[in-house]
Amino acid sequence: MDPDVLRQAPLFKRLETEAAASLAAAMTTIHLDRGEVLFHEGDTGDQLYVVVSGKIKLGRSGSAGRENLLAVLGPGQMFGELSLFDPGPRSTTASAVTPADLKSVQHDELIEWLTGRPEVARGLLGQLAGRLRHANDVVSDLVFSDVPGRVAKALLDLASRFGEPAPTGGLNVHHDLTQEELAQLVGASRETVNKTLADFAARGWIRLEPRSVTILDIERVERRAR
Ligand code: CMP
Repeated sequence: MDPDVLRQAPLFKRLETEAAASLAAAMTTIHLDRGEVLFHEGDTGDQLYVVVSGKIKLGRSGSAGRENLLAVLGPGQMFGELSLFDPGPRSTTASAVTPADLKSVQHDELIEWLTGRPEVARGLLGQLAGRLRHANDVVSDLVFSDVPGRVAKALLDLASRFGEPAPTGGLNVHHDLTQEELAQLVGASRETVNKTLADFAARGWIRLEPRSVTILDIERVERRAR
């Protein structure tokens, strides 16, 4: 396991090497296969997770079997803290988009561990505040932005975490999502999202590949996202 990945997580960022190693030692390693569900929305849960490798999607189900993806997390990101700070059922279903390795820690143990380490608690609050900001943006976009604007934003958000310079130029975003999952992330139908992606590709802004997109003209995509 790469300790540098854990160090990116807000839980670890401000820790001395020794303290980080002792927390890491108290954590359990979990492996998920692609498509495996870690927990369901509504479950009771007493653990917080940090993604070490792979991608995890967090989703909610609506009526008539409709799904909404709230987030796709990658290495260094954590989840499962809401039911720690606000005891209650899990607010989303968490499942693996790719094979994934996670570290988990019991809530009780973490609380004990946070006591006397205000800098770590502040890091966690920072992440929660960031999520609230992001959730506010998502709500506003659903009200004020059209689907192409939301698709552009989702691509940039995925690029900020999973983007890598492509050998042929541009930014390759290996998101590992199906078209259905991309649509669930954007909050629109698969048909509309497909049409939008095809339009972006026809304009030369992106190149579509299975479970991956290369952003060829980042400026235009950024402008469309505004
Ligand atoms: P918890 O409710 O314990 O389990 C599901 C987790 O999903 C939750 O904690 C958060 O860590 C995470 N989560 C819930 N809503 C969002 C969101 N809007 N963006 C990112 N992560 C979320």
